[in-house]
Amino acid sequence: MKKEYIYHRFERFWHWMQALLIIFLGVTGFEIHGAFTFFGYENAVQYHEIAAWSFIILIAFAIFWHFTKGEWRQYLPTWKNMRSQADYYIFGIFRNAPHPTKKTVLSKLNPLQKLVYAGLKALIIPTMVVTGLIYMFYRYPQRNEVLGLNISGLQNVAVLHTIGAFLLVTFFIAHLYLITTGQTVTSNLKAMITGYEEVPEKDEKEIQKVEVGTPQIGEVAK
Ligand code: HEM
Repeated sequence: MKKEYIYHRFERFWHWMQALLIIFLGVTGFEIHGAFTFFGYENAVQYHEIAAWSFIILIAFAIFWHFTKGEWRQYLPTWKNMRSQADYYIFGIFRNAPHPTKKTVLSKLNPLQKLVYAGLKALIIPTMVVTGLIYMFYRYPQRNEVLGLNISGLQNVAVLHTIGAFLLVTFFIAHLYLITTGQTVTSNLKAMITGYEEVPEKDEKEIQKVEVGTPQIGEVAK
């Protein structure tokens, strides 16, 4: 085994803060939605607002980091290895086949992750922020902010915000499972805590074989 440096310090901080904030926004948001009572409705609204502003500040720092470090390129979707990655999740993973793509600091996302994370960053999170802000300011017309927005009702905004929340919950559940599918059950988790991932050196040849154009997981596993 050798150690590969994958996640920078800011990246790990951002990841865990984002995780905490999204979980907290989900809990307070679904309480506002009426799904259960925990903090009490008024507290939930207040906490949701505080967490939302913290999330927006975190997003501003993350955008700055992604563009100054060029990390936004990690999310550019690609077809390369898409088929072998899908085969891996459907079949290979249950046959102990090697991972079809190698994780490095320059390319830490597999083709399916690139697609899902690009969708989250470009679509779901912006939808949550924009609908959340409209929701926030529409509720308090005495602050005058809504006058310029010319929105006649909150129904569509609330539906979009809630659909986004359900999608984030779905992502979160899938994410918890996928965390366990690294080289070992805990290697992905450890990498996001320490920055380093333990990878077997012997895997490299097999991985290169797949990247050169052997997309069938069954063949690689032999
Ligand atoms: C910056 C991002 C966000 C902002 C500005 C925001 C803002 C808001 C506001 C103002 C409300 C209405 C509160 C009220 O009724 O007074 C709300 C409701 C809600 N939020 Fe957020 N929110 C954000 C992110 C999130 C996230 C990430 C989630 C889920 C993970 C979430 C889930 C919900 C849910 C489920 C509701 C209840 C919707 C309804 O029943 O109509 N929010 N949000």
